[in-house]
Amino acid sequence: MRFMKSLMVILATTALALCLACAAADPASDEAANDEPAGDEAASDASVETHATIPVDPDSPNARYFTPDGREAAMSAFEEDDRETWQHSEEILAALALEPGMTVADVGAGTGYFTRQIAPLIEPGGVVLAVDIIPEFLEDLERRAGEIGITNVETILSRADSPMLPEGSVDLIFISDTYHHFDQPAPMLEGMLAALRPGGRMAIVDWERMPNPLFERDGLDWESHIRIGSQGVIDQVTEHGFRLLEQYDFLEWQYFVIFERGEG
Ligand SMILES: C[S@@+](CC[C@H](N)C(=O)[O-])C[C@H]1O[C@@H](n2cnc3c(N)ncnc32)[C@H](O)[C@@H]1O
Repeated sequence: MRFMKSLMVILATTALALCLACAAADPASDEAANDEPAGDEAASDASVETHATIPVDPDSPNARYFTPDGREAAMSAFEEDDRETWQHSEEILAALALEPGMTVADVGAGTGYFTRQIAPLIEPGGVVLAVDIIPEFLEDLERRAGEIGITNVETILSRADSPMLPEGSVDLIFISDTYHHFDQPAPMLEGMLAALRPGGRMAIVDWERMPNPLFERDGLDWESHIRIGSQGVIDQVTEHGFRLLEQYDFLEWQYFVIFERGEG
């Protein structure tokens, strides 16, 4: 009898130990215990690893920059061979009245399509601060600038809510095809206003809210992608301490406006 009791205790203990071991090895049990789906956990870990400080809004036009394929496609588009047929950089740069010694911030610089054109025009003594939230774009920008011997460019890895520019340090802020990408325009404008020197200007080139053949070709839905057009931008920017200085209409699908710091 005593032997039977001991045997039953041993069997019960062994069964309990086996159950505990199975639960520890079974991910489904882990998931139930944590009450968190494993798939979501893995996805958020992936974004935290690569872009630790950037909140990713899935509806943002920036969302595609958070996958290798999306970045690859975007980098080809920024540098496409026939961009000048619609971008007309030379006329844009002429209107910027660049001078040697200036500090120019190219905010949302991407791969540096404009950075590389501005840099020689502000020599000697000038510097372009190339600002972007995507480190891979800035690495590509540095490589491209280096290949053609440009040395007066500094890159700044910024945040969705701040251009990370030093206060009172910049003569001109240049923003090309990027304003509609700002997920948080208000703090971006505050940071850019603070970064301007007295008399400093901010130039914005961007898409009008209307269909255009480039978006059609690339399969982009212009209505959801181009979140704001010229009038919305002018209203928003002038509400944040800037004054409208110039407005140009030589671009077919884009607007081009220059602001200056308002009084006070
Ligand atoms: C369509 S690309 C334009 C790139 C470049 N300016 C050009 O004309 O080729 C938009 C760029 O804005 C950047 N961007 C988006 N939000 C930003 C923010 N809040 N601050 C700085 N860059 C931002 C993106 O990473 C991307 O490089």
